[in-house]
Amino acid sequence: MKKRTIHCNEIRTQHIDQVVTLNGWVHSRRDLGGVLFIDVRDREGRTQTVFDPSDLPADLFDAAASLHSESVISVTGKVRKRPEGTDNTKIPTGEVEVMVQSMEVLNAADVLPFPVDDPETASKVNEELRLKYRYLDLRRPEMIRNLRLRSKVATASRVFLDEEGFLEVETPTLFKSTPEGAREFLVPSRLHPSHFYALPQSPQQFKQILMVSGVEKYFQLARCYRDEDLRADRQPEFTQVDIEMSFIDREDIYSLIEGLMGRIWKSALNMDIPASFKRITFEEAMNTYGIDKPDTRFGLEMHDFSETFKTSSFKVFSGTIERGGVIKAMNAKGLADVTQGQMEGLTQLAISHGAKGLAYIKVENGEWKSPIVKFFSDEEKAALQETLKIEDGDLILFAADEWLAACEVLGRIRLQCADLLQQKGKLTIDPNRFDFLWVIEFPLLSFDKEMNRWYSSHHPFTAPVEEDIPYLESDPKKVRGQHYDLVVNGVELGGGSIRIHQPEVQRTIFEKVLQLPEDLIKARFGYMLEAFRFGCPPHGGIALGFDRLIAILCGTHSIRDVIAFPKTAKGTCLMTDSPGTAENRQLRDLHIQLRAPQKEQKGE
Ligand code: AMO
Ligand code: AMP
Repeated sequence: MKKRTIHCNEIRTQHIDQVVTLNGWVHSRRDLGGVLFIDVRDREGRTQTVFDPSDLPADLFDAAASLHSESVISVTGKVRKRPEGTDNTKIPTGEVEVMVQSMEVLNAADVLPFPVDDPETASKVNEELRLKYRYLDLRRPEMIRNLRLRSKVATASRVFLDEEGFLEVETPTLFKSTPEGAREFLVPSRLHPSHFYALPQSPQQFKQILMVSGVEKYFQLARCYRDEDLRADRQPEFTQVDIEMSFIDREDIYSLIEGLMGRIWKSALNMDIPASFKRITFEEAMNTYGIDKPDTRFGLEMHDFSETFKTSSFKVFSGTIERGGVIKAMNAKGLADVTQGQMEGLTQLAISHGAKGLAYIKVENGEWKSPIVKFFSDEEKAALQETLKIEDGDLILFAADEWLAACEVLGRIRLQCADLLQQKGKLTIDPNRFDFLWVIEFPLLSFDKEMNRWYSSHHPFTAPVEEDIPYLESDPKKVRGQHYDLVVNGVELGGGSIRIHQPEVQRTIFEKVLQLPEDLIKARFGYMLEAFRFGCPPHGGIALGFDRLIAILCGTHSIRDVIAFPKTAKGTCLMTDSPGTAENRQLRDLHIQLRAPQKEQKGE
């Protein structure tokens, strides 16, 4: 094989008359009056080559004429200026072409299952087909761009953290069950019948142990595994930029990550971002945006009208308040022209998130159109008018429920309203805008009504805010955690906390607050509690979702677009056909006996 002398994106008029060799793929082929034009493409770009039958041996010309798209070739020829009027201004090599002297076919491709030369058609190909032939999908320039950006950001992160004195340490991926919430992937042990490893949900415990070891500053581009229901922003295996530091407080993490983000945005997008990010408490985020990862690129803020409707004759509202609930409302500015179908959609969305209904007011031609306004007093109307700055064309939406439920429902509605406003062209979001936000002061614990017990909002190693420690046993809901989330444009990019480093506090959390049985504490965390007794420095850390980070930088909604070989929403790999079955011999070695497949139970 003749090796390339230049990449397909590099040839310019200055190369005219030089003989070059290109290695690459047949991107497209046109036959114009007997002369053959083949665009050769490599990772960097493409160049037009010209096969003129009057200059070439017949067998070479025939070989070129019969090539299918995406065949791999090595071509050698002389660069020339394209004839007057035939320049292609869309590509950087559009002023020149290569007059072919020789060609080798390195791999003759069959007809492809879908075309990859035209970005328009390729991106419309059904995703299942693209995932089955992922290697073809990855040839599309956008996909190469995504992989390239991912590699660049990984390097920038490593360089930055190295400069800051961090050590990259690899931690095991054959681990055991952890309590981080998500369902785990188990790996049966051949040497230990009935025993299983679990793939780690994150390196959380190992990185804390590394602090006990005195590593002080650890990071890892760590692969994590969670057997969760998958969505556009969730994969069963994904990557974290995982970080842990000793002798620090929350401020140290904020400034480290602000610096890291600054470096990443500069190297990936050549963009300057604020040196420090806004902070918002969990309570404020829920009150104003109805979600703990607010998208602050648009307003549509929520307000509390519980005081206003305390004694309202509209019983849905006053009754809710009497039972300890709240009334939240927002002004979907300019959305009074929702169609009946869209209004029905909003109501169904509210109901699917547990609301009993979605009270509304449409403001049109100076009139408040709504089935409930007739119950409102003049004072109630005046309060709405003043706080929500109601104008003609507005749509006012209400949620009445317990505080958290009302906030969450209206928060969903807020996001849906923003989508509708965008569809109608009434709201435009600048694609180059990045709203970074720290969400802080989460409650340390949340209550599971079904199980009738408290569970950790983040994970059980998160330290309580110092002054709240006395309430751990007496009034758990009052205790704030030293937990922080990094949010960008409504995406939870990362989360972490200052950890508990005193064994007695950790024990109280396990035993008294989470009420874990002693044998389970010992089996799962015995080694940690022990390690904490042998010189554990105060420490804390964070993990950034690396796939989500790259998706944000690439401007794509789905992390599948930035992972070379992602799984489908059903957790399968269509290219390799995984998961697959195992042979009886393998199962026997692993001491596993399969049961007859069970009928799916309702609700499973
Ligand atoms: P947490 O569970 O919040 O924290 O995860 C950190 C970040 O990882 C990303 N992430 C995911 N990305 C893709 N697919 C998934 N299934 C997925 N799950 C999580 C998110 C998330 O913010 N050990 C702690 C961190 C710590 O306390 O230091 C942890 O894993 O962007
Ligand atoms: P009702 O009196 O139940 O017919 O409800 C009157 C209006 O209030 C309807 O538009 C309902 O969708 C709405 N509604 C009922 N319950 C709630 C609630 N908890 N939050 C917001 N709106 C509600």
